Amino acid sequence: MIRDEVDLSIELCGVRLRNPLILASGILGTSAALMERVGRGGAGAVTSKSCSPLPRVGHPNPTVIKWGPGFLNAVGLANPGVEAQVEILRETRRRLADIGVAVIGSIFAETVEGFARVAERLSAAAPDLIEVNISCPNVAHELGTPFSSTPESAAAVTRAVKAATDIPIIVKLSPNVTDIAAIARAVEEAGADAIAAINTVSGMAIDIEAARPILSNLEGGISGPAIKPIAVRCVYQCYQAVSIPIIGIGGVSSGADAIEMIMAGARAVGVGSAVFWGGVETLGRIAQEMADFMAGHDYRHVSEMIGLAHRLSPPQPSPVEIAMEAKEL
Ligand SMILES: Cc1cc2nc3c(=O)[nH]c(=O)nc-3n(C[C@H](O)[C@H](O)[C@H](O)COP(=O)(O)O)c2cc1C
Repeated sequence: MIRDEVDLSIELCGVRLRNPLILASGILGTSAALMERVGRGGAGAVTSKSCSPLPRVGHPNPTVIKWGPGFLNAVGLANPGVEAQVEILRETRRRLADIGVAVIGSIFAETVEGFARVAERLSAAAPDLIEVNISCPNVAHELGTPFSSTPESAAAVTRAVKAATDIPIIVKLSPNVTDIAAIARAVEEAGADAIAAINTVSGMAIDIEAARPILSNLEGGISGPAIKPIAVRCVYQCYQAVSIPIIGIGGVSSGADAIEMIMAGARAVGVGSAVFWGGVETLGRIAQEMADFMAGHDYRHVSEMIGLAHRLSPPQPSPVEIAMEAKEL
């Protein structure tokens, strides 16, 4: 049982979540039955697998390998397409209605226009929120690089999706960029209601016996504990750049990890890879650990901790700024 004196509930874009823990897209979000189990296991919200205008088969095997304490994957957004996804989301909402777990529908397309079409069609299922996946590192886009790569392309998708639906949208950003804060600012200005950071980090593994990359797609996305410091840094930088809420995702597997994300500036926390090991009750366990920490440290509401690391350790000047100050440059 979550302790009475601690209130884990938060509001995200007008939607009340019983706790800030969200099942990240692509992990068990492929069927209503699985999302129901994660919801009943203690999640505040569940996100479905990203869906595209038409069904996609994804890349040939191998698509996922275990690497260190995490994964390297290039699934290639295999999904049954938006028409099937509408039914999956309707069924998920029906199954989770009695416990008030929010349902987030994730979308993907290869073109700006395709994003708008999927958003409009998916809205028929009335998910609480729509997550816009512009940051998958493993699939082709009309620009050759993910839309999350530049402020302009990220903003173009955001504007098109905003025009296509009345449901609040979360734009999911990539860590594989030089300046994530600039991209966060661009999507906020283009109308995003929230930001999710981060998607997977680009990587590769080579089989030295075969002398070739292991994944059929050659490159993949790294997830799990190894990427947590990258995710925390990205959330921290986005928090300084925007005032819309941030969902912190990447390597979270404990209550302490979730609190760290929140102190970096996240309002809610996505959990993906940890569910592969911990099962459908992972998010409930993390919520319990958060409550224990809060009770032990006199925090009553999650909102008291959001961005706290900024107050306690304001950004330090860079070595260049220090040198300029000392008139060395
Ligand atoms: C096998 C796998 C499939 C994924 N599929 C999606 C997807 O369809 N859409 C998406 O936005 N992110 C997808 N992701 C990324 C996760 O949602 C998340 O951003 C990333 O794994 C980092 O979180 P984690 O370290 O908790 O796993 C996928 C990740 C994995 C491991």
